[in-house]
Amino acid sequence: MASFLGIFTKRNLLVLSLALNLSLVLRVVYEGGKDGGPHGFSVEEQRGPSMADMGFGKEAQATQRTRLSVSSSSDQDVMEKVINLDHGDPTMYENYWQQMGGRTTVVIPGWQSMSYFSDVKNPCWFLEPEFAKQVVRLHNVVGNAATDGRQIVVGTGSSQLFLAALYALAPKDGSEPISVVSAAPYYSVTKNLFTCWQIKAKSNASSYPSMTDCLKSGLYKWAGDARSFNKEVPYIELVTSPNNPDGFVRHSMVNRTGGILVHDLAYYWPQYTPISSPSDHDLTLFTVSKATGHAGTRIGWALVKDLEVAKKMIKFIELNTIGVSRDSQLRAAKILEVMTNTSENLGSFDSHESFFKISYHLMAERWQLLRAAVNRGRAFSLPDFTPGFCHFLNQDSQPQPGK
Ligand SMILES: Cc1ncc(COP(=O)(O)O)c(C=O)c1O
Repeated sequence: MASFLGIFTKRNLLVLSLALNLSLVLRVVYEGGKDGGPHGFSVEEQRGPSMADMGFGKEAQATQRTRLSVSSSSDQDVMEKVINLDHGDPTMYENYWQQMGGRTTVVIPGWQSMSYFSDVKNPCWFLEPEFAKQVVRLHNVVGNAATDGRQIVVGTGSSQLFLAALYALAPKDGSEPISVVSAAPYYSVTKNLFTCWQIKAKSNASSYPSMTDCLKSGLYKWAGDARSFNKEVPYIELVTSPNNPDGFVRHSMVNRTGGILVHDLAYYWPQYTPISSPSDHDLTLFTVSKATGHAGTRIGWALVKDLEVAKKMIKFIELNTIGVSRDSQLRAAKILEVMTNTSENLGSFDSHESFFKISYHLMAERWQLLRAAVNRGRAFSLPDFTPGFCHFLNQDSQPQPGK
């Protein structure tokens, strides 16, 4: 044994030891993920015909879908499991966009989009005209937002636009920072639930309270639950509808008038909720993260009625990032264009390629599996939602929140 070890240097042994430890950790993670351990929930990848069922073509038969299953377990065992519902990452639409293939490919030559400026005639000088055009087209086809008479402000995700809105709406000469509220439960993350460092890093990500107070601004401050807010002072209320995390349709909750409202309609799309009418608010936020699933493109947009408010938001983005990636806007424009074309049944697209129809069915399938899994245990329950008529799908549709 000694002579066998003798052929290794200390460095060899160190590398060997690290490799063994790593493979052990990976094995534990893999085994745990494969069958969910002896009890509780498991999430397993399996081949399924979901998109093919909808006539989406042969290749879609290889669609991978996530299946939730539950094995028999005692309540105590279930309590010992932690289910990560902390944050969402909309990769479930990847298969759809794979099927779209080259139709969404954008080629940007090296000489293109070099200037800081996209459109010097637009107050939002960093807004790509093609992106603005596709935003308007999409809203007109889906019917989820009025765009006439609005300034479009593009942002690095709707997260940046949220901060830009607070900056624009907060009085600059107030004796104290304006209160920012939202009805609980609001878009927020629970910290320190996780031991895995990667997940913990993500769990400290954005949320209304942490974004509002991050810089300890003298202009605005987080003031908690809108329902219990009773101070006789000016306030900004965030209305998220459908709401993250609970999925319910929301209206202003502060029990008095005079507040400044910001509507976060990240999830007001047909796959998540019935589209009852075009939204028509003073300041509304949307994002490709939830609409198309392209969270990594980091593009959101605000529809703003008051040009002066829009100009302040534009100023905020100018001061922070001197505009918004033109490349990302061009990519987002292409994605929105294809999405609208499939919805309008235009050109080479068949109706069974409609992004919203397919994503609606995908969400339905996932909720069905989730409900089946939850119903087999007693530890969790899920809310029931009331269906409503969706003017886009032209049928009664079921709210099926995403996150
Ligand atoms: C309600 C809500 N608003 C905004 C965001 C952030 O969107 P973006 O990726 O555009 O910054 C999220 C992300 O989860 C969200 O749930």
